Amino acid sequence: MKKWMKKSWLVAMGLVMVLSIGLAGCGKSSDNSVKKIQDKGTLTVGTSADYAPFEFPIVKNGKKQITGFDILIAQKIAKNLGVKLKVQNTEFSSLISDLKGNKVDLVMAGMVSTTPRKKQVAFSKSYYTVKNVLLVRKDEANKFNTIADTKGAQIGAQQTTTQESIAKDQTKANVVSEGLVTSLTTELLKGKLDGVVVENEIADNYLKNYPDKYAVAKVSLTTPKSQRYINVAVRKGDKKLLNRVNKVITKLQKSGEMNKLLQKSQEIQSKYGDSTK
Ligand code: ARG
Repeated sequence: MKKWMKKSWLVAMGLVMVLSIGLAGCGKSSDNSVKKIQDKGTLTVGTSADYAPFEFPIVKNGKKQITGFDILIAQKIAKNLGVKLKVQNTEFSSLISDLKGNKVDLVMAGMVSTTPRKKQVAFSKSYYTVKNVLLVRKDEANKFNTIADTKGAQIGAQQTTTQESIAKDQTKANVVSEGLVTSLTTELLKGKLDGVVVENEIADNYLKNYPDKYAVAKVSLTTPKSQRYINVAVRKGDKKLLNRVNKVITKLQKSGEMNKLLQKSQEIQSKYGDSTK
């Protein structure tokens, strides 16, 4: 055999080896996240429906159902996958473990991609940006103007949320953590709490639905960058599913439909919703 022939033989063998190792690798880490959902025919999304306009219950044609901005986006993802959507409602604090424990395929709950959460799950690209405010009773609209004014107050926040850490780290209040935002806002009206830390979009929703009951205090809270971006949470191994989710989000953003879905969820709320409950 001539020297150059020998050489190309070796190169060819090398290529075959590299290719087969590559293929074997693919087999092992095979990601069937999309196929699994398509085989089931259902995309199961976990949420905490205490968060209008992102997710809230309504009664439509006598039937209770969960809807909202996140759910309208979830419907688009289900459609892209060619499957039905199932919404599974639970308290916010159990959503990440439900996702990791395969009880749901995605979490869509106005969830921001904090650093500790990123260690546990993967996040899609962001579809909404938020900041935090202090929701108070209308008659006390001018009570909390500075952080010092929060001293001795009872301030509520939802368990395991960024609001809980902001309330604890930034105010001088006694922080009351509870499972549902809707219980906190009810307690605020009853006078059991003096304020509730919520995201601006949620506060606006309360102000719009109950203009004579709630107000946003003047005190300014800081929202760290890692707590501003709302995304879909996906299991870390589910790369193909994450890809699909990102594609749907990009498409909705580029076409301007994303903004319309938020408006649509607000229209649904005023038509069928028991306001923010
Ligand atoms: N954005 C906040 C967080 O990720 C609160 C989300 C609460 N969501 C809800 N559906 N209650 O921690």
